[in-house]
Amino acid sequence: MSQHVPTRRLTAPDIARMKGQRPIASLTAYTAPIARIVDRHCDFILVGDSLGMTVYGLPSTIGVTVDMMVAHGRAVVQNSSRALVVVDLPFGSYEQSPAHAFATAARVMQETGAGAVKLEGGAHMAETVNFLVERGIPVLSHIGLTPQSVNALGGYKVQGRGLDADRLMADARAHADAGAFGIVVEKTTESIASAMTQAVSCPTIGIGASPRCDGQILVVDDILGMFPDFRPKFAKVYAELGEAADAAVKAYAEEVRSGAFPEMKHTFKD
Ligand code: KIV
Repeated sequence: MSQHVPTRRLTAPDIARMKGQRPIASLTAYTAPIARIVDRHCDFILVGDSLGMTVYGLPSTIGVTVDMMVAHGRAVVQNSSRALVVVDLPFGSYEQSPAHAFATAARVMQETGAGAVKLEGGAHMAETVNFLVERGIPVLSHIGLTPQSVNALGGYKVQGRGLDADRLMADARAHADAGAFGIVVEKTTESIASAMTQAVSCPTIGIGASPRCDGQILVVDDILGMFPDFRPKFAKVYAELGEAADAAVKAYAEEVRSGAFPEMKHTFKD
């Protein structure tokens, strides 16, 4: 007789407790079909503001709005049941003050059903992280390369080289002390990501950071090979779905033009 083992959705404290136990696996998802797949295999799903590029074809994450995050966040929550869902707070929706951040985060949590939010920034954002955490909103911090600051950083450059390493370590400590349940560390030197992982009590989640981070995250479109012309060094491609989709659409268009599709089996009887 098969036994039904009830599953419950993982929470932010569950993810925090995984530090030192086993590596944490995470990917982004923005839509129902991908959310269902990622939910089966990953510990948390990030509805990242990278959807500005992957879904909307924008040049950066700067143009992403709270409405976009709410729409995609809701789709992902409704089509997952096991993984924690974390929704990004987009540029301009939280930086002004802790109260501003709380208003946006509360709206995102209420309208999507997500279990946590993510925000970008160094030590200067730690006060905001603490303000949210103390009011019941679990926060995943994002330090290192913070794409919402691409204009100030002067491009998508590796962070943590030279004197910058001390600043990054201070950022990590400030966010951990502020109560973040985890810290995404993006595109830094391997050594600083590794040192941070040892220094802070919450899990570090690397993307272009270090195998020694407590977990890893990637943009799902990157591992699926959806953008053959854009291959970040830190992303491993596990399938070539972009090429497969191109071949399928080409074959369909050719068959329509040649009359090979549709066949009678694709039609309905009276
Ligand atoms: O928006 C995003 O997808 C992200 C991750 C890749 C960390 O912030």
